[in-house]
Amino acid sequence: MFEKVVAAPADPILGLTEAFRSDPRQDKINLGVGIYKDESGATPILKCVKLAEQKLLTDEKTKNYLGIEGNQEYARIVQGLLFGKGAELINAGRAKTAQAPGGTGALRIAAEFIARNQLSKTVWISDPTWANHVSVFQAAGLEVKWYKYYDATSKDLDFAAMQASLSEAQRGDVVLFHGCCHNPTGIDPTAAQWEALAEQSAAAGWLPLFDFAYQGFARGIEEDAEGLRIFARSHRELLVASSFSKNFGLYNERVGAFTLVAESKEVADTAFTQVKTVIRANYSNPPSHGAAVVTAVVNDPALFELWVSEVAEMRVRIREMRELLVAKLAERGVNQDFSFIARQNGMFSFSGLSKEQVARLKDEFAIYIVGSGRISVAGITRANIDPLCDAIAKVL
Ligand code: LMR
Repeated sequence: MFEKVVAAPADPILGLTEAFRSDPRQDKINLGVGIYKDESGATPILKCVKLAEQKLLTDEKTKNYLGIEGNQEYARIVQGLLFGKGAELINAGRAKTAQAPGGTGALRIAAEFIARNQLSKTVWISDPTWANHVSVFQAAGLEVKWYKYYDATSKDLDFAAMQASLSEAQRGDVVLFHGCCHNPTGIDPTAAQWEALAEQSAAAGWLPLFDFAYQGFARGIEEDAEGLRIFARSHRELLVASSFSKNFGLYNERVGAFTLVAESKEVADTAFTQVKTVIRANYSNPPSHGAAVVTAVVNDPALFELWVSEVAEMRVRIREMRELLVAKLAERGVNQDFSFIARQNGMFSFSGLSKEQVARLKDEFAIYIVGSGRISVAGITRANIDPLCDAIAKVL
């Protein structure tokens, strides 16, 4: 009966990686998927991770199952990173965290928890957004609605349009925010804009869901939690799907977390029993290793300090590549002003390149970027930036 199955389209991001791998051209460049590359073009294991892994290898005593919600010390660490150590909502027991297989796993837990408990039928997501958001929410049976976000002319956040389109969200609707380093635009609300959104949300009674996958890639670990913490101050309920894929370089360990914040400890504890049923019916309980690494690093002051410096190193290198990209495109006399690239945050640049230009970059120059024109700046190095800029100048 499988002959009845119709082929699915390739994934817009991971499908590109597959195509890149099978491209025989020697000088190919992959700026599709958001993966950090160092100056030599490698995706290294962070030093703090290697050191923690050595310790784990010696100290680990068992491979017994974790509980459905995963490692509880990890949950405590996640909450500290999200809300700040000693935050009122943590001390009051209002936050409950489940270890999840990556940020995507955490989003899927959120989506199914919302759908199964009939908390909302609708999720509002930014236009544009990460290509997988729609699939994850629709897979759980939720309806997706779009709010305006990006103004392609000014290459900036259209905050008035964002607020205006969100004014149509109903009480109880879920509104998804990117905690920092908006994927794909790299444009985040300012602190004042976060305050205004939190005020609008609290007044309208939305259920905020933060997708927080790039903590540390915009300004710093603490600084990047600003928007989430502003919301946490004025909301008694919210959800967070967070990930350590990027800021710990633990991509293939699938290490993320789903966090629920409720009105009180009692409500949080009860609601969390339903989160556990969602997890049990999906993957039973999470894999251990990635969360154990994060826990070992954050709980060791020296390793923690090393991690903070390694995140800073990644952040600074990406920023340098942004500035170099702007300068090198200008050197090639391209007509458009690309200075906006240097103002964006995180791994991605929403370049404004058209679908046709993206296709030409792939076909003629073996340069892979996402169809929306999103470039992973984290994949640019001093070795590939000249051929990249030559090719962009040609397709422009
Ligand atoms: C990306 O946006 O490139 C990353 O979040 C990886 C992914 O799973 O799509």
